[in-house]
Amino acid sequence: MSANVALPDITATFRHFGVIPVITIEDASASAGLARALSEGGLLCAEVTLRTSCALESIERMRVAAPDLVLGAGTVLTEAQADDAVRAGARFVVAPGFNRKVVDWCRGRDVPVYPGVCTPTEIEAALDAGVRELKFFPAEAMGGVACLKAISAPYGAVSFIPTGGINLSNMANYLALPHVIACGGSWIASAADLSAGNFAAVRSQAADAVAQAQRARPLA
Ligand code: 3PG
Repeated sequence: MSANVALPDITATFRHFGVIPVITIEDASASAGLARALSEGGLLCAEVTLRTSCALESIERMRVAAPDLVLGAGTVLTEAQADDAVRAGARFVVAPGFNRKVVDWCRGRDVPVYPGVCTPTEIEAALDAGVRELKFFPAEAMGGVACLKAISAPYGAVSFIPTGGINLSNMANYLALPHVIACGGSWIASAADLSAGNFAAVRSQAADAVAQAQRARPLA
């Protein structure tokens, strides 16, 4: 997907790449190099977690450094955080759990939101709130592909972004499931690589992740 092509929608973008880097940034000075590395690696989406005090500034800086990146905010726990993230330029919101207030805030403003679930009860709460595209978290700790297959079976219209414990070696197992949109993971832009300014590693890990996703499931 070239930077000049209008992106259809956020979920379609995730589906296209098959993988979403989940990034926690400790120092905003890494943001520009990080954003360019992802873009050069051909991975044009990223979730920046709101777990650090520089997360919002980092989203702003990444947006400027690589305007072709589709950026969102993760670990969004409150409506105020969702508001801050959108003001900083986040185009989607991800959460580790299902918080009805956060979901309603986003849906009321047409901000794509992907709340986290890992039980049938949570899936049904999300459906009740009108959301069918969900983060499955923490994927590996909850039982991985077998668990996702089992809990998704009753809910045909629901699709998932498995995240938590996913890496290059197990990603394809998730992408083989028809109701998986994409996998999220922190290995593509690790804290160690960011603090060392090792953007070449980020670029190559991004490219490897896209290539692996493409092998597992040809690009849409
Ligand atoms: C998340 O924030 O979604 C997860 O912590 C990412 O999980 P991972 O570090 O195991 O990829």
